[in-house]
Amino acid sequence: MIEEIKEKALEEKVPIIKDGGLFFLLEFIKERNAKDILELGTAVGYSSINMALVNKDIHIDTIEKNEEMYKEALINIEKANLDEQINVHFCPIEEFKTDKKYDLIFVDAAKSQYYKYTEQFLDNLKEDGAFIYDNMIFHGLVYDVENIKNRNTRSLVKKIIKFSDLMRNDNRFDIIFHEDVGDGLLVAFRRKSERK
Ligand SMILES: C[S@@+](CC[C@H](N)C(=O)[O-])C[C@H]1O[C@@H](n2cnc3c(N)ncnc32)[C@H](O)[C@@H]1O
Repeated sequence: MIEEIKEKALEEKVPIIKDGGLFFLLEFIKERNAKDILELGTAVGYSSINMALVNKDIHIDTIEKNEEMYKEALINIEKANLDEQINVHFCPIEEFKTDKKYDLIFVDAAKSQYYKYTEQFLDNLKEDGAFIYDNMIFHGLVYDVENIKNRNTRSLVKKIIKFSDLMRNDNRFDIIFHEDVGDGLLVAFRRKSERK
């Protein structure tokens, strides 16, 4: 079932998390016993279904603004019998508001908005919770930015690098950059002194 979703997504060029990144994410959830998860960027539900399968007590809120993706995610989640565990919100991330606190916020939507998302959802992170950001090396392009021919891609990659620098210098977080995992994952824990 999950393999079918993956194959179809790859065939249709839907951007889903890479195997290495997914493995890391699932291990992280197990090790930290994360139960409440917010995901920014559902696509067809591949990563949320994988996360929900870790443990029946896990609950995921996941946000998607593309109607086609949203509908396909609902079908996939229903087929996997995970409707009780995964709640897909059909709206732009920017408009999503909740008082809920999460153990993990997995950020996998518009790369240029990662810092904004961090500010938007910081209060929704439990005090020992973490953000995980995907695509931090963006297919390796962050290492060769000046040679990127396409202007839009170059501008996006520059924004990812800027985000990475902002996070390194943001004293609210302790960060670990796993550049060799999947498409590059950045993990940000709230600093102890910042915890409310
Ligand atoms: C990389 S895909 C998510 C992949 C998914 N997490 C997985 O690994 O299976 C990013 C998704 O975020 C959605 N997205 C991008 N910007 C968004 C926004 N501002 N609000 C809601 N969804 C957004 C896109 O439509 C796309 O489906």
